[in-house]
Amino acid sequence: MFKVLISDTMSNVAQKIFEKNKISVDVKTGLSEEEIIKIISDYDGMVVRSATKVTKNIILAAKKLKVIARAGAGVDNIDVPAAKEHNMLVMNTPGGNTNATAEHAFALIMAVLRKIPYANDTTHKGKWEKKNIKGTELSKKTLGIVGFGNVGVRLSHLVKGFGVNILVNSKSLESRQKDFPHVKNVSFDKLISTSDIISFHCKAAKDGKPLITREHYKKIKPTAYIINTARGNIVDEKDLNAALNENLLAGAAIDVYSKEPAKENILFNNTKTILTPHVAASTKEASIVVAEMAASQITNFLLKGTKINTV
Ligand code: MLT
Repeated sequence: MFKVLISDTMSNVAQKIFEKNKISVDVKTGLSEEEIIKIISDYDGMVVRSATKVTKNIILAAKKLKVIARAGAGVDNIDVPAAKEHNMLVMNTPGGNTNATAEHAFALIMAVLRKIPYANDTTHKGKWEKKNIKGTELSKKTLGIVGFGNVGVRLSHLVKGFGVNILVNSKSLESRQKDFPHVKNVSFDKLISTSDIISFHCKAAKDGKPLITREHYKKIKPTAYIINTARGNIVDEKDLNAALNENLLAGAAIDVYSKEPAKENILFNNTKTILTPHVAASTKEASIVVAEMAASQITNFLLKGTKINTV
């Protein structure tokens, strides 16, 4: 009988799928690397979200492990080269949390444009800041989407009703441009210099280098806003903080950080930022879908050898 370890908190739908298919399953969350190393040799499969870091040491100790599934899109918490070297399949669940992430990006855009957190905070405190809260409308603005994968595409559809001019910076868009007549593919420099809102939906660079640094802020409109729901190291936080303080841009809304969990960060207390704790994909709906996808993918691989969504 195959045995699977679920090492992060997720919908119990995953556990039910394994049980239904007569795959033995243990749910053990919050384990340290050492604790996982002690038990991992018992398992044929492993399901993680983002909390478990599947390190090379875990992979070396995993004598029977054939497959690791990430209930989510990013696999930056898994040492994929080490897993491949040891003939383990790594899978993710693309699409499972696309809509959740795009909706959060949209919510952050509206929150930053209409100063919702500030309005909420001051109203709760009995201050009537009506005169000091003047928002900006999204309608007729230019939205720059960096990276046009599942989430970027979904965001472009979500804002359609606002008469927004949508610019995209994507290497792969050229070949599929006919499917997306509502967007225009432009260079990164053109996008950052002409957009009112710049939203990141790309992968982080392999070498970890940020995509947007100090030199770029000179090209950005001082009235522009940056939204990052992709990965923390895409936007250099120190440079972003400096640019905000120097009025080189109007504000930023950030869901992802260079170091997570973000217990301290240079952006904390910068009143021009809205910060959320990497929750763009965290909806009731998406957490069920990604758990279901991860468990079904592992089940189909262990029982039938079917490989889908491998990275
Ligand atoms: C993802 O990669 O799927 C999202 O960033 C959400 C998450 O980390 O769980």
